[in-house]
Amino acid sequence: MKNIVLIGFMGVGKSCIGKLLASKLSYQYVDTDKLVEKKHGMSIATIFAQYGEEQFRQWEQEVVAEVSESERTVISTGGGVPLRKKNMQLLRKKGFIVHLRAKAGTIFHRTASRHNRPLLQKDVHEIEKMLAWREQFYRHAHFSIYTDKLSPLQIVREIMFYWRRSKRAKKREEGKKGANYRC
Ligand code: S3P
Repeated sequence: MKNIVLIGFMGVGKSCIGKLLASKLSYQYVDTDKLVEKKHGMSIATIFAQYGEEQFRQWEQEVVAEVSESERTVISTGGGVPLRKKNMQLLRKKGFIVHLRAKAGTIFHRTASRHNRPLLQKDVHEIEKMLAWREQFYRHAHFSIYTDKLSPLQIVREIMFYWRRSKRAKKREEGKKGANYRC
């Protein structure tokens, strides 16, 4: 698995953790939201207001298809990326998928002063409902971690530990297959 892909709800810290993780691993860092904005020369808020969510999702999927071909890259995804099955299929090809989680209250506090997310509800109960509904899309990660009470460095260390462990397990698995090979 050549990339690490961060998924999760808005405000769980994907960008902050992604940048730190990439710097610890000396990997590249990309953020699908930033790439959509750059490619189309507009903020996410403007895309939603002028073209609607469906168009945003289409542009987002195009960016996902591009970044999923990367190597040695930490990829932070917009919170809605896992809603499309195709996105997750693409990202899984080369990626270790990490689900960053947080309780609704934490998300509410972390995002309260920001107004750049068109789909983020301003009511903690609404966030709770949306979180619960999205769980079905986020739960297919290789590893998931609650970020509420951990520092960014603790989270990054946990991710690196489980990622390396999973790479070792994969190598062992491949070794076994090779050992049973008969000419
Ligand atoms: C969205 C999350 C946002 C952004 C857009 C839609 C979502 O990204 O892609 O506003 O549907 O969850 P962040 O998760 O980085 O806030």
